Amino acid sequence: MSEIKNIAVIGGGTMGNGIAHVFAMSGFNVQLIETKQEFADRALKTIEGNLDRMVKKEKIGESEKNSTLQRISTNLDVASGVKDADLIIEAVPEIYELKKKIFEQVDEHAPDHAILASNTSSISITKLAACTGRPDKFIGMHFFNPVPVMKLVEVINGLETSDDITDAIISLSEKLGKVAVPANDSPGFVSNRVLMPMINEAIFCVYEGVATAENVDDVMKLGMAHPMGPLRLADFIGLDVCLDILAVLYDGFKDPKYRPSPLLVKMVDAGKLGNKTGEGFYKY
Ligand code: 3HC
Repeated sequence: MSEIKNIAVIGGGTMGNGIAHVFAMSGFNVQLIETKQEFADRALKTIEGNLDRMVKKEKIGESEKNSTLQRISTNLDVASGVKDADLIIEAVPEIYELKKKIFEQVDEHAPDHAILASNTSSISITKLAACTGRPDKFIGMHFFNPVPVMKLVEVINGLETSDDITDAIISLSEKLGKVAVPANDSPGFVSNRVLMPMINEAIFCVYEGVATAENVDDVMKLGMAHPMGPLRLADFIGLDVCLDILAVLYDGFKDPKYRPSPLLVKMVDAGKLGNKTGEGFYKY
């Protein structure tokens, strides 16, 4: 297996810019691919802000911040952005048709040796791999928000992912200072299969008047040492994202235990999606 040096990250949103940040900080060259220059500029600004925060906390120096930024180039074209990449990580919104279109393009223009990865939180890795001519070189690399802080990379093997590729991605994650935990492709993988029912149950507690959102969160923070309560975390993730993932679990397992709380559905319908819209279970 050739050495992985050049990374292309497709999508500069919360996850994509975090992924670009950690790769560039670990010495990799990163092409950050976006659809518009203003989105690419916004992603770079966010990365710079997060690096500034690390300089302020004395985790890195000013020169490491500058060299990290120098290793990131932006590109508005998938074909040229992936042509020299050893690894391409897709981090676009959770819409299967969109990801399919992107992976078809990536497969056409990326070098033959390149590994294709998706940061999807719940779409089947096997199904995405089947959009390409290299399902053996396709894998899930599921990062967690905030990417520069959270230690985990959940590495998802599709049906045809080869063992060499899994091993390469696990050792690559270690080079980023992360801990890779492998799992096989299944709805919600491990992380969201365990997390989302907890968040949903917390929402049911509020819906049924068992406790307020603040009190539910205090129980989990003070009693179970969670850094954020489940409702604060739901706002942080996005209530629409939580609802989408529950739908994947519900459809995938055909098990009513994954049915979303009517309160979650109502809040998404009302556009109260959490931090990103200024209101969810809390106001921001
Ligand atoms: N970039 C760099 N550093 C950051 C950062 C960022 N974007 N965000 C926070 N930090 C750093 C801070 O500088 C701080 O550093 P320090 O420990 O050296 O002081 C540290 O992280 C903690 O941040 P804060 O002091 O600002 O705030 P908190 O102590 O409240 O921590 C938190 C914030 C890290 C977000 C913490 O509340 C937490 O761990 N929450 C849980 C997050 C979580 O569960 N994420 C997973 C979501 S699920 C997901 O992503 C998967 C998807 O599929 C749904």
